[in-house]
Amino acid sequence: MLLLLLLSFLNLSCSWAASGSVYETFLHCLTHQPNSTNQVSSIVYSQKNASYTSVLRAYIRNARFNSSATPKPLLVITPLQESHVQAAVICSKQVGYQLKIRSGGHDFEGISYISETPFFILDMFNLRSINIDMKEESAWVEAGAILGELYYRIWEKSKVHGFPAGVCPTVGVGGHLSGGGYGNMMRRFGLSIDNVVDAKIIDIKGRILDRKAMGEDLFWALRGGGGASFGVVLSYKIKLVPVPETVTVFRVERLLEENATDVAYKFQFVAPKTDNNLFMRMLLQPVIRNKKQTVRVTIMTLYLGGADSLVSLLGKEFPQLGLRKEDCREMSWIDSALWWASLGVGNPKTLLDRNLDSAKFLKRKSDYLQKPIPKRSLNLIWKTLMELGKTGLVFNPYGGRMDEIPESETAFPHRAGNLFKIQYSVNWDSPDIELEKNYTSQIRSLHSFMTPFVSKNPRSAYLNYRDLDIGINHNGENRYNEGRVYGVKYFNENFDRLVKVKTIVDPENFFWNEQSIPPQPGRGRRL
Ligand SMILES: Cc1cc2nc3c(=O)[nH]c(=O)nc-3n(C[C@H](O)[C@H](O)[C@H](O)COP(=O)(O)OP(=O)(O)OC[C@H]3O[C@@H](n4cnc5c(N)ncnc54)[C@H](O)[C@@H]3O)c2cc1C
Ligand SMILES: *[C@@H]1O[C@H](CO)[C@@H](O)[C@H](O)[C@H]1NC(C)=O
Ligand SMILES: *[C@@H]1O[C@H](CO)[C@@H](O)[C@H](O)[C@H]1NC(C)=O
Ligand SMILES: *[C@@H]1O[C@H](CO)[C@@H](O)[C@H](O)[C@H]1NC(C)=O
Ligand SMILES: *[C@@H]1O[C@H](CO)[C@@H](O)[C@H](O)[C@H]1NC(C)=O
Ligand SMILES: *[C@@H]1O[C@H](CO)[C@@H](O)[C@H](O)[C@H]1NC(C)=O
Repeated sequence: MLLLLLLSFLNLSCSWAASGSVYETFLHCLTHQPNSTNQVSSIVYSQKNASYTSVLRAYIRNARFNSSATPKPLLVITPLQESHVQAAVICSKQVGYQLKIRSGGHDFEGISYISETPFFILDMFNLRSINIDMKEESAWVEAGAILGELYYRIWEKSKVHGFPAGVCPTVGVGGHLSGGGYGNMMRRFGLSIDNVVDAKIIDIKGRILDRKAMGEDLFWALRGGGGASFGVVLSYKIKLVPVPETVTVFRVERLLEENATDVAYKFQFVAPKTDNNLFMRMLLQPVIRNKKQTVRVTIMTLYLGGADSLVSLLGKEFPQLGLRKEDCREMSWIDSALWWASLGVGNPKTLLDRNLDSAKFLKRKSDYLQKPIPKRSLNLIWKTLMELGKTGLVFNPYGGRMDEIPESETAFPHRAGNLFKIQYSVNWDSPDIELEKNYTSQIRSLHSFMTPFVSKNPRSAYLNYRDLDIGINHNGENRYNEGRVYGVKYFNENFDRLVKVKTIVDPENFFWNEQSIPPQPGRGRRL
């Protein structure tokens, strides 16, 4: 541990020392690339630049990685056009630095903007155009766009179209879509990647490839396999989906003293099986009420339809919830996006705001649930949640469209057979390192406690819920075996095909990170 600290300290101090000359070498290379303009120097921030810190911080979305101890890039490169991205890839390779790619910066472990080896950040936030073609009901969306912008631009063009993606408006398209992308229309329309029809990527040679030019294997890998293992995603072409003029939302809460156990138990049978237009998320949180610990069960819903039919549907399927029409709110789809993000409904422009939320200190983990948890075990889970005190669980229902798409259709493998994806979630507000230890160990204990209930062999996880606890790559001799450890958890049977694609498109593993897809052993050279 001490050695590791020392090493990373040395790394850091070397990088500071070398910063000036690396900057000059890199800039020299950039200006000698085809199509470079005299704008090129204005897109590179060295550590000496007065704006370096604010540019770096702008897309740090986990406050844990906003400290002076967090490893910093030598350069932040902020392309304004595609040729800048091409030049950045070629020149980073030439000067021999790792290139981390950042779009929205929501990676839970910060791996789009941190590395233990000397590195640059390629920051895509300027490349965020969204071109909607209403005739084709499709759109080209650049990687640096955020989900809120996408929803807003669709809404400007049509009140009866939407796109199935995540519920947090500041999440970046670049990371989100390449890792799968789920949201509250998943049971009706599948994941974001199930509605992606084309993509543009810049490969290791600096070429711009669309679906036709890259071929079906790489296009398959970019849908769920994580873009950062293969190149820089410039944009995705998506298919819009139809949404009704009126949708319905509700949020109902029950404490243990209010039959929450019955609600949570029955929820497991209803949510993954009900009407595909209905998405019900369940949150389980330890809370204090009247100075007593208890557990709160919250059900949050999006229904693609009106309140009357929702109340009648759940009256039949889920009487334990006791849903009343007064619990429901009818609204437009765009307002439901605001409502789900806890933003005021009626002002869609908020979705364009890139600085909506002050970043928390946080840790996340994930699991897949394949059979319902018995009531007696729920009671043990309540006890554990209360003992630990702060970690919560979020159950996101699968089923519906997710069951119809074969596991091998895209690189994202978690389809039929899964009832829920579970997110483990803990947030805190202070940089205190003891507190961080406390909370990260708490969330790990809960994950360990849940072992008997969740998927096994492999115990699956969701790539977009990045979790470095499940394995790390060092890009050394052992990189294939290291990659297999987390690779089969994120990708199940699709891992081997991802390795094949990787071996063809980037055999030397330039595009690597702590959890990237490794090339086949014995192929290529280590950098
Ligand atoms: C508040 C919050 C809410 C979330 N809600 C949801 C949700 O509802 N549904 C869901 O599915 N997920 C959700 N997530 C997870 C989210 O989908 C992932 O963190 C996603 O990877 C973020 O994408 P990004 O571009 O913002 O992140 P970044 O940190 O920029 O990137 C994440 C990863 O993708 C790589 N990458 C980014 N851009 C590119 C590119 N252009 N080309 C190649 N590789 C690239 C990065 O190198 C990194 O490995 C949420 C995360 C947060 C923090
Ligand atoms: C330079 O840019 C033009 C227009 O964007 C493009 O057609 C051409 O292929 C580019 N040349 C190279 C060498 O990338
Ligand atoms: C910082 O970088 C920006 C963009 O490259 C540039 O315009 C500016 O002159 C630089 N400032 C300093 C002090 O180097
Ligand atoms: C990072 O730290 C700075 C300085 O303390 C603060 O202003 C900023 O809000 C922080 N950002 C995040 C994402 O925590
Ligand atoms: C809990 O369930 C019992 C038995 O079904 C019922 O009588 C009671 O009203 C319920 N309490 C709440 C708060 O829903
Ligand atoms: C750790 O977290 C628990 C639960 O919130 C709390 O009771 C305890 O005091 C914390 N310990 C420290 C050292 O912060």
